[in-house]
Amino acid sequence: MTCVVVVGAQWGDEGKGKVVDLCTERASLVARYAGGPNAGHTLVVGGEKTIVRLIPSGVLRPDSRCVLGQGMVIDPAVLVDEIDGLTRRGVERVQERLLLSERAHLILPYHVLVDGLREARASAIGTTKKGIGPAYEDKARRLGVRAADLRHPKRLRDLVSTAIAAWTPVLLALGGEVPSVEAILETLAPLGDRLTPLLGDASRAVHDAIQAGEPVLLEGAQGTLLDIDHGTYPFVTSSSAVAGGAATGLGIGPTRIDHVLGIAKAYLTRVGGGPFPTELSDATGEHLRTVGHEFGSVTGRPRRTGWLDLPALRYAARVNGLDSLALTKLDVLSGLSEVALCVGYELNGARTKELPVDELDSAKPVLERFAGWQEPLEHARSISELPRAARAYLDRVAEFVDVPITVIGVGPGREASIVLADPFA
Ligand code: IMP
Repeated sequence: MTCVVVVGAQWGDEGKGKVVDLCTERASLVARYAGGPNAGHTLVVGGEKTIVRLIPSGVLRPDSRCVLGQGMVIDPAVLVDEIDGLTRRGVERVQERLLLSERAHLILPYHVLVDGLREARASAIGTTKKGIGPAYEDKARRLGVRAADLRHPKRLRDLVSTAIAAWTPVLLALGGEVPSVEAILETLAPLGDRLTPLLGDASRAVHDAIQAGEPVLLEGAQGTLLDIDHGTYPFVTSSSAVAGGAATGLGIGPTRIDHVLGIAKAYLTRVGGGPFPTELSDATGEHLRTVGHEFGSVTGRPRRTGWLDLPALRYAARVNGLDSLALTKLDVLSGLSEVALCVGYELNGARTKELPVDELDSAKPVLERFAGWQEPLEHARSISELPRAARAYLDRVAEFVDVPITVIGVGPGREASIVLADPFA
């Protein structure tokens, strides 16, 4: 097994970072394929916490190479900042081990401005305000600036001028100011000097590593239900977060992927607006938020919390082709007298077990209730060390979703995991 995709099976924040971290022990190349600085992994380097938004967490392994694929949108200032931050904290050869796709699109100041101004309006969907949507809009309407353009000052000037001209009526209508081309180019020049040595062909890098039989990890960002095509539109991000996005976002064929590992929390969270049938606004929801530290790592926003939605997870298993599932944060459920799983919905007077992805706001969850457990789970390293009630809960999840659970997270540390199978084995 050489090429594994790790994909979020919910609305993001599934604890991918920890599982990716476990897997990068084996991977010599880690590549991200979608999204931008809307993602965030908290890494602990030399006892200090640091948040990376663009660079895959594999960078902490001194020998691993990291690729930022063409499916991503890159904010040059954020990337340079991350490189410097990691270097300052003693991570070696960050710059040398990083490859930035020449074809990745850039997030420029006008994208961030538009995102922020739109979010101040009533029609806001609760984005991270990092300029993600507007940057992908420019890509789709063929007004984008790509990383390779940083090498060509004249072309860069023309592209930025054209894009600003296109955004001007939007910025003015939103009550914003139009940034000057000169100011943007001036800021970009030193960033371009830093980033152009990193430019390369991401597709070839990933292809060559796979051909050489190296273990390769393709790291998803956000989650299935935030995918632009398969998520709960319009409350979604603007990229292909699903496993298929790894093929298009990196430029490899789907035949190169050997295994798709889905990550889901043992409960469910969401940040931003949009339907969430199993949301809990009571003391149990507060328990999940407090015990699970459910606050956004990019925006600090409190996350909405609720019961695990099994039809949604089974939908994620289908659209991603999940081979195995990692269920994280099972320990957060300890201490509840009762736990529940959503096994269907009541919708338009009927019951369904399928996720009504476009009618989720009118779906009422059908819950199956289980006895809870009081024991802390942090020290469990095998299934047999889990309380009987927790095992019954896991069995029901695996049975409903019809995907084997191969990793169970029982605490924040990397070692606090029950690993039943290695996706690289
Ligand atoms: P955007 O990606 O900033 O445009 O935000 C679109 C939606 O995706 C909003 O609901 C965000 O809260 C959500 N979102 C984007 N990135 C993440 C993430 O990494 N975790 C969880 N939610 C995210």
